[in-house]
This record gives sequence, C-alpha cells and structure tokens, in this order.
Amino acid sequence: MKVTLDELKAKPMPQHIAIIMDGNGRWAKNRGLPRTAGHKAGGETFRRIANYCRTIGVKYLTVYAFSTENWKRSQEEVSGLMKLLSSFIKSKEKTLVEERVRFRVVGRRSDLSPKLQREIAALEERTADCDFTLVVALSYGGRAEIVDAAKAWAASGAE
Ligand code: FPP
Repeated sequence: MKVTLDELKAKPMPQHIAIIMDGNGRWAKNRGLPRTAGHKAGGETFRRIANYCRTIGVKYLTVYAFSTENWKRSQEEVSGLMKLLSSFIKSKEKTLVEERVRFRVVGRRSDLSPKLQREIAALEERTADCDFTLVVALSYGGRAEIVDAAKAWAASGAE
C-alpha cells in the first residue's frame, strides 16, 4: 500500500530514532570489496535515511557510528573511518546549513584528532539553530559514559 507524504505526516511520528551501524564489513566481504568500501556504502545509506527522517518530520536522528571498542580495529580501518567522517563533515556542510540540519557529536570527542575535533566544533556552531537534529555518537561506550559522568560529578562536588 502506497502512502503519500501528507498521510504519513498525519500519523504518529517518533520524536527520536537511533541507529546502530552494523554489517558494513559483511556487506563488503560478500561483494569481495575492502571493509572501507562497506563503510563508505553504510555512510551513504545513512545519508539517505537522515534525509528521509527529516522529510517525514522526525526531530532527532542518532547514529552510533564509532564505539570505544572500534579503536581496536586495524590502523587502516580506523584511519579510513576517520577520513570518512572528516569528508562527511566537509562535503555536507553546505547541504546541512541549507536544509536546516543541526549537527551534534556525542561521546568522548577528546579521543579524536585535534583537527577532527575542530571540524566538528565548527559544524556544530554553524548549524546550532537548525530544526532537525542529527546526532553522531563517536568514541561512545556505556563504560566510558559511566566513568565520564562519575568524573564530572566528582569535579562538581570538589567545586
Ligand atoms: C559497523 O559495521 C560500522 C562501523 C563500526 C563504522 C560506521 C561508521 C561510518 C560508516 C563512518 C561514517 C558515518 C557517518 C554517520 C557519517 P561493522 O564494521 O561492525 O560490520 P561487520 O559487523 O559486518 O564487521
């Protein structure tokens, strides 16, 4: 059954959708391609999903893109992923601003290279007052979050 955009928008809509990236490596392996090609294709699929969510009126889309565990992958894969993130930020800046997408990163951003941190901060600032929020979780992890929250709590107590 086909549903028009107006019909879809009239239905109850989740405020926030979160996606865990998985299967990029298997996707590439099944096609005889390097894992980085799987990540590139995963990034492109995510871009299409984000566009769709924005169009149908979802307010927040979170993508769990790179966990604290993922640092243990090969140097080649990690640097390929970091390059992909950096090129996503640079190539999508204009589109995000035009389409009023607020870009936010959560996770231990201090684990990222200073250059990537600067690129992220600049895009967050440029898109701060936009409507649809895209949250990218980088260097994220349940354990890391508990440790960081406990440290922040202890620091506020010390003050
Ligand atoms: C999971 O598949 C994917 C990752 C750990 C990395 C995903 C990150 C990107 C594609 C970077 C760009 C993202 C955005 C949002 C711009 P896997 O490698 O664990 O796959 P497998 O389980 O088949 O091995």
